[in-house]
Amino acid sequence: MATVLITGGSSGIGLEMSRIWGQNGYRLLWVSHKDEELVSAKALIKREIPKVDVLYQTIDLTDDDGPERVHEWATELGKVDVVINNAGFGTYGFVHEISLEQELSMIKLNAIGLYKMTRLFLKDMILQNKGTIINICSNSAFQPIPRMTTYAATKGFVYQFSRGLQQELLIQKSAVRVMTVCPAAISDTPFRKLLSQDVQTFKGIAATTAIEVANDVWKGFSKNKSFVVSGKKMRLLYRLRVIIPPFLTRYLVRKETEPILS
Ligand SMILES: NC(=O)c1ccc[n+]([C@@H]2O[C@H](COP(=O)([O-])OP(=O)(O)OC[C@H]3O[C@@H](n4cnc5c(N)ncnc54)[C@H](OP(=O)(O)O)[C@@H]3O)[C@@H](O)[C@H]2O)c1
Repeated sequence: MATVLITGGSSGIGLEMSRIWGQNGYRLLWVSHKDEELVSAKALIKREIPKVDVLYQTIDLTDDDGPERVHEWATELGKVDVVINNAGFGTYGFVHEISLEQELSMIKLNAIGLYKMTRLFLKDMILQNKGTIINICSNSAFQPIPRMTTYAATKGFVYQFSRGLQQELLIQKSAVRVMTVCPAAISDTPFRKLLSQDVQTFKGIAATTAIEVANDVWKGFSKNKSFVVSGKKMRLLYRLRVIIPPFLTRYLVRKETEPILS
């Protein structure tokens, strides 16, 4: 049975992707840091897909040794065919006003944790000349995002790192693939509520849903893609960006990241 490891698999797009991979016969390995959520998400997915095999570990990926512990646990269980580095969160506000602790924790999870996870599993996959790493990035990687500056910077790292790695794999003629996924703002996952403020972008022109993103990821994976822009409206905007003047992009992004004042 093929195995997919999904960080943050018990929530948001991680859970939607789990449903799809589970329905397609994959064994699911999950890592998140809240035990109760893992327990209830497992019960839910087992009700929906009784044949699915789900194993999980409660590990904080911001811990220095978090990714190593995940790697140790997962490899003890056998070969991992697909790793989806999905766990991540955002901060909102002007940089100097956000707590340093929160910002550093986000950098540790979104960038450093993902870097370590990718490196650990990539080595195994290169040795076997088989496997896929899917790194969940964001449309925030395409330009600076005021009020979500550090978040966008972490996703800028994910974008350059993942796309660069894919090119390295091609140079080495490896059959391993690193796929970069850039979703638009997702209106219906806890990510939105975890921000200190609701933000226009979740009601914006390109906003998408967890189901649409999970379907796009599965389609991209099945078609052997290495880069996926997720959300139909976001794909159109992505194509148009070459003809939109930079000052207009900056204006629209500033509007999209304004707080929703209730
Ligand atoms: N929502 C959006 O608008 C949007 C847009 C583009 C890209 N993305 C990206 O999509 C990914 C998934 O986001 P989502 O919208 O599905 O949000 P979500 O539902 O909040 O999922 C985030 C997942 O990450 C896990 N996580 C958080 N901190 C962790 C830690 N320190 N160690 C281990 N696991 C941790 C969470 O586990 P717990 O629940 O146990 O804390 C949760 O399962 C993120 O990388 C995000 O940046 C989101």
